[in-house]
Formats: sequence, structure tokens, C-alpha cells
Amino acid sequence: MRNDGPLVLGIETSCDETGVGIVRGHTLLADAVASSVEEHARFGGVVPEVASRAHLEAMVPTIERACATAGIVLDDVDAIAVTSGPGLAGALLVGVAAAKALALGLDKPIYGVNHLASHVAVDQLEHGPLPEPCIALLVSGGHSSLLRVTDVTGHDGGVDLMGATIDDAAGEAFDKVARLLGLPFPGGPHIDRAAASGSSVHIDFPRGLSSRRDLERHRFDFSFSGLKTAVARWVEARERAGEAVPVNDVAASFQEAVCDILVRKALDAASSQGIEDLLIGGGVAANSRLRALAEQRATGLGIRVRVPSPGLCTDNGAMVAALGAEMVSRGRTPSALDLPADSSLPVTTVLV
Ligand code: KG4
Ligand code: ZN
Repeated sequence: MRNDGPLVLGIETSCDETGVGIVRGHTLLADAVASSVEEHARFGGVVPEVASRAHLEAMVPTIERACATAGIVLDDVDAIAVTSGPGLAGALLVGVAAAKALALGLDKPIYGVNHLASHVAVDQLEHGPLPEPCIALLVSGGHSSLLRVTDVTGHDGGVDLMGATIDDAAGEAFDKVARLLGLPFPGGPHIDRAAASGSSVHIDFPRGLSSRRDLERHRFDFSFSGLKTAVARWVEARERAGEAVPVNDVAASFQEAVCDILVRKALDAASSQGIEDLLIGGGVAANSRLRALAEQRATGLGIRVRVPSPGLCTDNGAMVAALGAEMVSRGRTPSALDLPADSSLPVTTVLV
């Protein structure tokens, strides 16, 4: 284990995971996560009030667990980092309040950082220094974006938004289609598993924003609501005809449509900029087909693909700590102690 770089504790509460991570430079020391996902399952989606309350209950035990795993005491840390946004307002507030209390009590600097850039920075913990510039494809339950990253700390326009979904996020589409197929929430992993024994060419589902006309205005944007509707129609038609729905085939064909368009646009973004590194992050990056397809197509184009292991793709505190450590290492000015929780923080604002 390398023993250099700043020791940073990161707190993540933007959605339903209470994450507390501890890193030293690029070395991961602890990644404690308490998820309230089971409390939301019966609603088929995350309920903001339930998430906020769960964060409150989990915060102190999760901090304690992270410190115990890392073998440190709080006073050892050089800085506190926290997700300032984007995310659920009430959920973010819990993390930001906890981080402020720690920073004030310990007299340490605080960095309020962007959740999306954290999904990029986390890769350093596994694969070493980030290639900059790189293209980042971020796909999760709340976001689907293509970023051009020249400096992950956002310095001097270092994170630029090339495209994003114009309706549902990719993970949201997985969750909605899973529900339609009678699979539990969150649906991504269940679709992934069902698809493994289904046929991806059974049904030719639409690829959103891929027609020549759409590409003129939305070359790097995504749309998944039409796909979701197409799946719903297809399933309804079978049910009306009294036929059994081939769940595995629908899952595989749907998954193929999502992964095809994500990979196609991400590689187009990289090629258009002459950038040779593609990083994929966010919960949907855990998808086995997305990882395989990206790898396969990128190789032919001479583009390298980096994807964190699945546990670091979904929301966690280590990603926030990783970005915080980068802020310290690159000498960025810490945030003010009255930093906001901003539910719609733009991706270009990496440090508040
Ligand atoms: O990044 P994340 O943990 O939280 C958000 O910021 O949303 O992502 C959660 C999303 C959910 O929509 C979940 O269904 C999806 O990631 N997901 C997957 C897989 N594992 C998680 N989607 C497809 N395939 C997977 N294996
Ligand atoms: Zn996320």
C-alpha cells in the first residue's frame, strides 16, 4: 500500500446510499456504505423523505465503521469531502451538515464536490492516475451524461458536458422495465441476470436519438423513454394475446438497445475529440453487457476503456474522498463552511 497523499474522509448522501469512504491519495482505505434501498423497494423508486431519515440514522455508525476499517481516528484526516449536489435536496443536506460538523469540530478544511465528477475520480483508486483528457460516460438511476474531462477537479473548465439524457436516465429505464417484467427494484441487476439467458436479438427495440435528423441536434444526447414505452407495448400485446412473456428475451433485447446506444455515442464522443480514453461510471456501469460491448468496440478504434469494479460504480463515499484527495493534491481552495447542498448543481461546477 502506498503511504503518500492526503488522508481524506468523503461523505455521500445524494440518493439512497449513506457512504463514508477514506482514502490516502489514490489508495482506498475504507468504503462503508449503508443503503436504504430495501425501504424503497415496495414503492418501486426512491422516496426522498425515507432516504433522508435513513441517512440521519446511518451517518454516525457509518463514519465509525469507516474509521475502524481504515484504522484511523477522525483527527488523523487532512480534509473532509462531501457531495454538495446534484441529488435529492433533503438527502444531500444530511451529508453536508455532517461534513460541516466534522470540519468545524476537527478544524479541518472541507470540500463540497460534485457527485458526477466523483464517479469519474473514483477510478483512480483502482487504475491509477486518471488519463486526462478522457471522455466519461456516467450512467446511473439519476443521471446519464457524457463528459469531456481535462481536469477532474473542474479547474479552468476541466469538466465539460457534451450530452445528457433528455428524459429518463439509463438506470431509471432499467428500473422501469424491470417493474414491467415483474422483477424487483432496483431492476438493473435483475435485468442483467435475466438477460444472461435470453436472446438479445429476439426483439429489435428502438435506439433513441439515433436517426440522422436526431443526430444533427442531439449527437451526444440520450433518450430512453421511447424505448421504455416500446417495451411496455410489446409486453402488453403478448399479454392481450394470452401469450407468455419471454422475460429473459425481453430483458436481453432491452439491455442490448440501451448498451448499444450508450457505447455508440460514448465512442463517437471520444473519436470526435481525438480522445483515446473512455471511462464509464455510475450504477449502470456495473452492467455486464455494457462493460463487454464497450471493451469490444473500443478495441477496434484504439480507445482504452476504464470501468471501476461494480462496488465502486454504485454510489459510495470512497468516490467523494477520491475527488477530495485530488482537490487537496492539486492545491484547490477549500469550500467555505457555509457551503450549500445544491440539488441541481451543474456538472461543470466540480467544487462549490
Ligand atoms: O449510481 P447509482 O448507485 O445511484 C444513482 O446515482 O442513481 O445507480 C443506481 C442505478 C439503478 O437504476 C440500478 O438499477 C442501476 O444503477 N444498476 C444497474 C446494474 N446495477 C445497478 N443497471 C444495469 N445493470 C446492472 N448490473
Ligand atoms: Zn451516482
